[in-house]
Amino acid sequence: MEPKNFFTFTTVLHKCTITIITIFTSLANHTLALDPHFEACAPKTCGNGLNISYPFWISGKQQSYCGYPNFEITCGDEEPILSISEEDYIIKNIFYANNSLLLASAAAYDRQETCPTPHHNISLSRTPFDLISTDTNLFFFYNCTKKPPDYYTYPIDCISNSTHYSFAAFHEEVLLKANYSLDLCRNSAFVPVDVESINIANLWQMNYTEVLKMGFLLDWTTHNCTSCEASGGRCGFKDSKFVCFCTDKPHVETCCHDTLKDIKSDGYSKEKAEELDITDDVGLLKHGPPTPSPDSRTSWKTTPPSSN
Ligand SMILES: *[C@@H]1O[C@H](CO)[C@@H](O)[C@H](O)[C@H]1NC(C)=O
Ligand SMILES: *[C@@H]1O[C@H](CO)[C@@H](O)[C@H](O)[C@H]1NC(C)=O
Ligand SMILES: *[C@@H]1O[C@H](CO)[C@@H](O)[C@H](O)[C@H]1NC(C)=O
Ligand SMILES: *[C@@H]1O[C@H](CO)[C@@H](O)[C@H](O)[C@H]1NC(C)=O
Ligand SMILES: *[C@@H]1O[C@H](CO)[C@@H](O)[C@H](O)[C@H]1NC(C)=O
Ligand SMILES: *[C@@H]1O[C@H](CO)[C@@H](O)[C@H](O)[C@H]1NC(C)=O
Ligand SMILES: *[C@@H]1O[C@H](CO)[C@@H](O)[C@H](O)[C@H]1NC(C)=O
Ligand SMILES: *[C@@H]1O[C@H](CO)[C@@H](O)[C@H](O)[C@H]1NC(C)=O
Repeated sequence: MEPKNFFTFTTVLHKCTITIITIFTSLANHTLALDPHFEACAPKTCGNGLNISYPFWISGKQQSYCGYPNFEITCGDEEPILSISEEDYIIKNIFYANNSLLLASAAAYDRQETCPTPHHNISLSRTPFDLISTDTNLFFFYNCTKKPPDYYTYPIDCISNSTHYSFAAFHEEVLLKANYSLDLCRNSAFVPVDVESINIANLWQMNYTEVLKMGFLLDWTTHNCTSCEASGGRCGFKDSKFVCFCTDKPHVETCCHDTLKDIKSDGYSKEKAEELDITDDVGLLKHGPPTPSPDSRTSWKTTPPSSN
């Protein structure tokens, strides 16, 4: 294990040692009677392995209280689909750590769709999502009465003929430099594209469907789930209020916090927790050192929770 990971690992253990002990004490007592909200909000996938959890939820597979209403996801084949202003987007990835996700037009992936061109601009007003500044717009121009320059443009053959041309381009300046007037085109729309992850030379080798499939990044702002998850909980809502669902019951913000109070009132002693040899059952340990030495077992079990 990397020293840094080990540091994080031990910090988490320090913070939550008592919680973990309490959870497993109650597990032992109640033989896996987990809170139904906690169970209902377990991460699920549409089949492709991408884990969906708060603030998202899959309708039909998870309860709506596991996330926000406009983070509802449906499954198309094995892919998670998010609908934004009546357009369907395939979720290619979700970065829970920095509140962002990578999406691509579902039409670009649809084999029945022979000409997956956008006809309106993405509208994020009245959504919790925002475009990220590193996204670059790909502009689509339709029914132009002049042939576009060959350089830095993507022809759209399915809706072009000898008198009317349709194409896509990243930068209008390229067209202006070539004296190409966009007044010769009937209408236009743009799609954001995450071009950061690709070599520019490769970008020009692609066709417009392949560029659309690269997708774009959006970020979101919601109640932060970091401390709830770090304490072993799953975020969601109860009576429209943010809560942290834990194995025993819903808590306010983290499983640790409220459980510490419980420990006092229930009078659990460290000694009692140590009676149970729970070392191998603690999920955290599975991601921690593979074989903790007998010494480290004792030391983590008896470490009191840190004061911060
Ligand atoms: C998804 O979650 C499951 C269980 O929580 C975990 O085993 C799996 O590794 C996760 N998959 C990915 C791709 O993170
Ligand atoms: C959530 O809060 C934690 C600290 O409580 C912070 O480190 C983290 O960056 C926040 N996450 C996001 C995505 O804002
Ligand atoms: C979030 O993290 C992922 C993976 O590290 C990265 O690809 C993505 O660009 C980040 N998102 C933002 C908004 O910076
Ligand atoms: C999309 O936005 C561009 C630039 O703002 C605008 O010129 C165009 O008319 C818009 N297209 C649609 C279909 O609304
Ligand atoms: C192009 O022009 C034709 C005929 O005027 C029209 O039917 C068609 O909808 C236009 N296509 C686009 C993409 O605007
Ligand atoms: C080319 O396409 C335009 C718009 O779709 C249409 O109005 C026109 O009749 C077509 N011309 C030919 C020669 O097919
Ligand atoms: C564009 O037009 C200007 C002025 O009419 C001319 O000087 C220039 O050579 C033209 N550029 C191209 C690429 O045709
Ligand atoms: C774009 O390229 C892909 C892969 O090379 C190909 O399957 C697809 O038919 C091409 N699409 C168009 C519109 O040329």
